Amino acid sequence: MKIVVIQGPNLNMLGVREQHIYGPMKLEDIHEQMKHFAEQNSVEIEFFQSNLEGEIVDRIQECLGDADGIIINPAAYSHTSIAIRDAIAAVELPTIEVHLSNIHAREEFRKHSLTAEVCAGVIAGVGPFGYHLAMIGMLQIINEIKAMQEAQSQDS
Ligand code: DQA
Repeated sequence: MKIVVIQGPNLNMLGVREQHIYGPMKLEDIHEQMKHFAEQNSVEIEFFQSNLEGEIVDRIQECLGDADGIIINPAAYSHTSIAIRDAIAAVELPTIEVHLSNIHAREEFRKHSLTAEVCAGVIAGVGPFGYHLAMIGMLQIINEIKAMQEAQSQDS
């Protein structure tokens, strides 16, 4: 099982940027914890961060035929990017969107996520722990899909 974690713009500045909102933890420390959890569960995991919309679209497309699921924090692009939304919809992989902050309790422009609408689930407002919850949710979703596929192949 392989999960790809995609991080959008300015998340490379975690631990420095607006700590009162996003907390003190650095992105590499969040990834280290996720790697640890992945190892414990025999899951292959890859991480990608970019500040560029097109690079994020490319990375999502590369997941097709390679990954079983995507965990993504599109950051500010959640609220603006039809291109990232279309890429998530195009690859048809289970995708969980994570936001460190509770986007529903912030500025009006953050309350709507274009990308969340094509995701299997969304976790927001629990800080870095949200990525851990996303991993648990993703394992569950992928295992359910695999069980369904096995049942279907036994029927035919
Ligand atoms: C964010 C929320 C976005 O609105 C913001 O632009 C970010 C981070 C979050 O994780 O809380 O960069 O996605």
